[in-house]
Amino acid sequence: MTGPLIRSLLLIWATLITRGSVAQDCGLAPMNTIKEEKVVGGVNATPGSWPWQASIHLNVFGTTIHICGGTLISDQWILTAAHCILVATPSAWTIYLGRETQSGPNANEVSRTVSQIIIHPNYNNTLFNNDIALMKLNSPVTFTNYTRPICLANASSQIHNATLCYATGWGKLSNTTNLPASTPLQQVQVPVIGPKQCSCSFSSQVDITSEMICAGEANKGTCQGDSGGPLQCQQGGKWIQAGITSFGVPCARPEFPEVYARVSEFQQWVTDNVAGANVSFALFSSSGTDPDNNFTCNFTSITTSAASLVIPQFVVLSVVVAFQHIVT
Ligand SMILES: *[C@@H]1O[C@H](CO)[C@@H](O)[C@H](O)[C@H]1NC(C)=O
Ligand SMILES: *[C@@H]1O[C@H](CO)[C@@H](O)[C@H](O)[C@H]1NC(C)=O
Ligand SMILES: *[C@@H]1O[C@H](CO)[C@@H](O)[C@H](O)[C@H]1NC(C)=O
Ligand SMILES: *[C@@H]1O[C@H](CO)[C@@H](O)[C@H](O)[C@H]1NC(C)=O
Ligand SMILES: *[C@@H]1O[C@H](CO)[C@@H](O)[C@H](O)[C@H]1NC(C)=O
Ligand SMILES: *[C@@H]1O[C@H](CO)[C@@H](O)[C@H](O)[C@H]1NC(C)=O
Ligand SMILES: *[C@@H]1O[C@H](CO)[C@@H](O)[C@H](O)[C@H]1NC(C)=O
Ligand SMILES: *[C@@H]1O[C@H](CO)[C@@H](O)[C@H](O)[C@H]1NC(C)=O
Repeated sequence: MTGPLIRSLLLIWATLITRGSVAQDCGLAPMNTIKEEKVVGGVNATPGSWPWQASIHLNVFGTTIHICGGTLISDQWILTAAHCILVATPSAWTIYLGRETQSGPNANEVSRTVSQIIIHPNYNNTLFNNDIALMKLNSPVTFTNYTRPICLANASSQIHNATLCYATGWGKLSNTTNLPASTPLQQVQVPVIGPKQCSCSFSSQVDITSEMICAGEANKGTCQGDSGGPLQCQQGGKWIQAGITSFGVPCARPEFPEVYARVSEFQQWVTDNVAGANVSFALFSSSGTDPDNNFTCNFTSITTSAASLVIPQFVVLSVVVAFQHIVT
């Protein structure tokens, strides 16, 4: 009895309550078969599972190459990471939506050029903070089962440690293996790691700020090529974007979760910058108290284990930051 009937009722309910407050339904993926249950991650996404997933390409030498992921947040705006914007000239970029593989054919794909790029004014490429940017499509897209907007976590959202979410992207499969061009978009289920535990992991490397959210576990996470794509969590029948893939230590190592820009911190900034577009925000709310509140950083064990690791230097890390990917 926990099956399809309850799920469709939830979906209808979510659709009804959403319709009253916003102009379009966000976070609905009619083709996604994942239930709100644990699913083992690191697999090919079935077509249409993540209809907001964008592939952001740089135009070079008469062709285009995948640089980063992004998400469709209205019919004309893409959310991505600031560090993905290698070139601030809009005409240097092409956005693909409804894409399955990088080699094609992609029956449900649409592409757009870019008319405007907005990078967060407080983005700090040394500290990786405020790693968020917006790209405006040259013309709106029509929503289909393969091209639809995601909901953004609103400023009241609370996402506790161990919440299970999904990261998606066309990034590398490991720090040494590229995703074959004919392989579909990858999805991986990862637990959110609370700020205290995450800060502890990165204590000698990077400051984990309140504009960041961490997620990942051993052998499951994002890697080079996944940057700019979403960390998305399902609630009330909707997918809500909690994070934007930002940086990590390659790749999906047990000691280090991956770090994402915390979307809920940017509700005001996004709203102020999309010029009246219908971007939808939704509350993601964890119940109970966050076990991360009780986390104590064991500096003794961190120092001891860190000594036996080759941890990239900050400069190396900043190169890594530029290209996050999914490890399965
Ligand atoms: C969208 O997907 C749903 C669920 O699979 C299906 O019932 C519906 O017909 C699809 N719509 C279109 C326009 O293909
Ligand atoms: C980033 O932050 C560091 C440390 O506060 C500062 O020295 C640097 O100038 C900042 N860079 C930018 C681009 O704001
Ligand atoms: C946080 O979640 C992770 C992943 O599920 C888990 O390994 C860890 O023990 C949790 N931390 C706390 C303090 O509960
Ligand atoms: C790739 O990851 C493995 C396992 O974490 C590590 O031993 C190796 O040094 C890494 N290789 C590179 C090129 O970073
Ligand atoms: C947003 O939705 C409202 C209400 O449906 C509509 O009036 C407005 O034109 C929409 N704006 C855009 C930019 O689509
Ligand atoms: C987030 O969404 C919830 C539910 O719609 C709402 O009660 C709350 O006021 C919203 N928070 C913000 C900051 O918009
Ligand atoms: C946190 O620690 C306090 C005091 O040790 C304890 O009473 C409480 O149950 C703990 N909470 C969680 C979520 O573990
Ligand atoms: C902290 O690290 C020490 C040394 O590795 C270990 O003996 C101790 O059990 C750890 N404590 C916790 C709470 O993990």
